[in-house]
Amino acid sequence: MACLRIKVNNTWQDIRSDEGTPAIDIIRGELGLMATKEGCREGDCGACAVLIGEYAAGQLRYLAVPSCLLALGELKGKHLITLEGLIEGTSGGLTPVMRAFLDENASQCGFCTPGFIIALTSWLAEPRLLDLAGALRAIDGNLCRCTGYAAIRRAVRRLIEQFKDLPLEPEARLNALVNAQVLPPSVREFADEASTQVLLNSNNDKENPELTPKQRMTSPGFVILGGGTDYYVKNPEPNDGFSPFLIRMRPEFKEINYLDENGQRWLEIGAAVTVREFFASELIRQEVPGIEQFETMFASTLIRNLATIGGNIVNASPVADITAMLLALNASIVIASQIQEGFDLSLTRTCKLEEFFLGYKAIDLKPTEVIKAIRIPSCNDPTARKFSFEKASKRKNLDIAAVNTAISFRIEEQRFKDVHISLGGVAPTPTVNKAAMELLEGSSCPVSDGKIMAELAKRVASSAEASVRPISDVRGSEEYRRRMVYRLMLAHFVRIFEDSGVAEELFP
Ligand SMILES: Cc1cc2nc3c(=O)[nH]c(=O)nc-3n(C[C@H](O)[C@H](O)[C@H](O)COP(=O)(O)OP(=O)(O)OC[C@H]3O[C@@H](n4cnc5c(N)ncnc54)[C@H](O)[C@@H]3O)c2cc1C
Ligand code: FES
Ligand code: FES
Repeated sequence: MACLRIKVNNTWQDIRSDEGTPAIDIIRGELGLMATKEGCREGDCGACAVLIGEYAAGQLRYLAVPSCLLALGELKGKHLITLEGLIEGTSGGLTPVMRAFLDENASQCGFCTPGFIIALTSWLAEPRLLDLAGALRAIDGNLCRCTGYAAIRRAVRRLIEQFKDLPLEPEARLNALVNAQVLPPSVREFADEASTQVLLNSNNDKENPELTPKQRMTSPGFVILGGGTDYYVKNPEPNDGFSPFLIRMRPEFKEINYLDENGQRWLEIGAAVTVREFFASELIRQEVPGIEQFETMFASTLIRNLATIGGNIVNASPVADITAMLLALNASIVIASQIQEGFDLSLTRTCKLEEFFLGYKAIDLKPTEVIKAIRIPSCNDPTARKFSFEKASKRKNLDIAAVNTAISFRIEEQRFKDVHISLGGVAPTPTVNKAAMELLEGSSCPVSDGKIMAELAKRVASSAEASVRPISDVRGSEEYRRRMVYRLMLAHFVRIFEDSGVAEELFP
C-alpha cells in the first residue's frame, strides 16, 4: 500500500492505495467522482476518459486517457481532471464543449458524454490548428450507442468555429483555454505548483516507506508495467499484492536519441515511449520519412496516449502493429538485467527483434530482465528510405489486424537495397518474410516504369503468399489471410510508387 499525492481537480489529495489499482476504481470509489463512467473496462468505449496534466519535455500538457487501463501510481505528482473538475469556475456550470453538446443535441442517455467532453477538451488543448479530421481523430476511441454521430459532428464544427484563433504556443494556449472556461483555473495553479515542493514530495508515504527495490522485485506480484493497455485487459481486477514497476514514470526509459557505437549509428527509443510520442518524435520522423501517416491505424487516441512501444513487443501478439513496423526497420532491442538494488541499465544485452520471438507468446526475456530500449539502425541518408505499413482489419479504427505488414528499403543506383519486410497474423509470432526480401534485394527499380514495377510487385506478393502457412481463426480463414498477404504486398508498391502508374497497371 502506498500513499500517493495527486492533484484531483482543484485539491491535492493523499490517496492510500496500491499503485497498481486501476485508477477508475479510486475515481468512482474513494473519490466519489461518478461523472467518469465505466462501460467496457477494456479500453474500447472511452466512457472512463479523464485528463492527466503532466510535464513532458519541459512542457505542461493535458492528455485524455482511459482510466480503466490506468495504474493509479501513474498519477503520482500529476493533475487528474474529471468532468466535475472541468466545470469548476464556469459561469452557468457548463464549459463551452458541454454547451456545444447541449445546443446541438449531441447527448441523449448521456452515458458516453463525459468521455467525449474529456477527449474534445484534450484535443482543444493540443497546440495544433483545429480541423474536423483532427477532432474526429481525437474521439476515435469514444463510442456512442444512442445519439448517433451526426449531432456530435455538429457540436465539433461549432467548437472549431468558436476556437479557430487559439494560440499555437503551448503555454499561451492553456491560458487562453482557462480564460475561455474550457479548462478550469486549477490548470494555472498546477503549472505554478509544478516547480515547487508539492511535486517533489509527491510520494508522501511517511508511515509506509516503499519496499526496497530488491524486496519488490522478488515479491510474487512484481510486474513491469508499460501503459497497461494489454495488462489490464487481461487482469481487470489485479490481485492483492500486485506490485507494478511503472516504467512510464522513469525518465531513463523515455529517451529518444541517436547513438554511435562500434562504427554503427542507431536511433535508440526508450521502451516506455508511448505510441503517441513515437509518431510525434521529430527524430523518428526524420529517420523514417512518412511514418506518421500510419499513427491512426493503431488503436485510438486514448490508447495511443498510454500504450508503450516496449509493451507492444513484450505482449508478443502475432499481429502487434508497432512490432511489425520495427521488424521492417531491422530493429534490435536492448535488454537490461536486475541487480541487487534494481535494474542496472548499464548491464545490458542486445537481441535482434526478429530473434526475440520464440513461439506463440514465448519470448527471449527472463523474469529478471526488462526491455530498456529499441534500436533502429540509422540510414546514412534517411531521405532515400521508403517505408510503408498496411493492415487488414474489420473496422478502420480500434481494431486488431487479421494480417499486417511493413516494408522498408532504400533505392540506390536504381536498385532495391537493405530490404526488410515484416508479416503479422500468418504465424504464431510476428515474422519477417525472407522469401520476399531476398527476391527484392538488389532487384532493378525503374521507379518511373509502372509496368515493370507492377510485374515486380506481383512476383514479390506471390512469393510472400506462397511462403506463409497461416491458421484460420475468428479474424480470418487461412485462405483469406494468404490472399491478404498478396494484396497488402501490392498495396505497399501502390503506396510507395504512387507516381509511377503502378496502381493503374495492377488494377486497370
Ligand atoms: C482498445 C485497444 C485497442 C488496441 N489496438 C491495438 C492496435 O491497433 N494495434 C496493436 O498492435 N495493439 C493494439 N492494442 C494492444 C496494446 O495497446 C498494445 O500492445 C500496446 O502497445 C501495449 O503496450 P502497454 O505499454 O500498454 O503494455 P502493458 O499492458 O503495460 O504491458 C504488456 C506486457 O508487456 C510487459 N512489459 C511492458 N513493458 C515492458 C518492458 N519495457 N520490459 C519488459 N516487459 C514489459 C508487461 O509486463 C505485460 O506483460 C490495443 C489495446 C486496446 C485495449
Ligand atoms: S470503460 Fe470503456 S474504455 Fe474504459
Ligand atoms: S448519449 Fe447514450 S451512449 Fe451516447
